[in-house]
Amino acid sequence: MVASKTVVEIMTAAERDFPDILLLVKQLWPNDRFNEQKIKKVFIRSLKNRNQKFLIAKVDGDIAGFAEIQIANSLRRQGYSSQLGELVVHEKYRGKGVGKKLLEESIKFAKSRSCKAMSLSSANFRKIAHGLYLKHGFEKRDSTLFLKRF
Ligand SMILES: CC(C)(COP(=O)(O)OP(=O)(O)OC[C@H]1O[C@@H](n2cnc3c(N)ncnc32)[C@H](O)[C@@H]1OP(=O)(O)O)[C@@H](O)C(=O)NCCC(=O)NCCS
Repeated sequence: MVASKTVVEIMTAAERDFPDILLLVKQLWPNDRFNEQKIKKVFIRSLKNRNQKFLIAKVDGDIAGFAEIQIANSLRRQGYSSQLGELVVHEKYRGKGVGKKLLEESIKFAKSRSCKAMSLSSANFRKIAHGLYLKHGFEKRDSTLFLKRF
């Protein structure tokens, strides 16, 4: 029997998608604790921000993953640049081409907003994601991420 190809639809997220986004955020960072009210407020604020985009991937009507892209002015890129903030596919739908499609559509969106580049930071253990990025032309840079909490 020939396995049928998964049909992945990409669209912009809406407020109603919040429960699925929250579930996916929890899968992305299983060791973090999230306050539902606070994260919902941030999500809704993001939807109103022209320089931030949430793309969702649907498979058979289910939200199978999402990507978040931010657009910023960049002196170094001498124009706009983009950052891929989050990319996550529901555990149930991994390995079916959903992440690849989300990444490709994220790049398409950034290009449509005249971005010269896309950057992202990713923990060392996320080897599958790194393979995906390298395959899509991302170069691994030698840099260290610093975080200061307030
Ligand atoms: C990384 C992630 C987004 C990839 O999404 P996905 O839908 O599972 O991946 P795809 O099916 O689109 O496959 C993308 C590539 O990874 C490869 N891949 C996928 N799952 C794999 C696995 N378990 N082992 C090895 N390679 C794998 C695929 O073969 C494909 O490569 P190819 O184009 O050469 O065939 C997803 O696995 C995920 O959500 N992981 C946890 C969260 C995460 O790490 N996010 C990235 C944060 S930086």
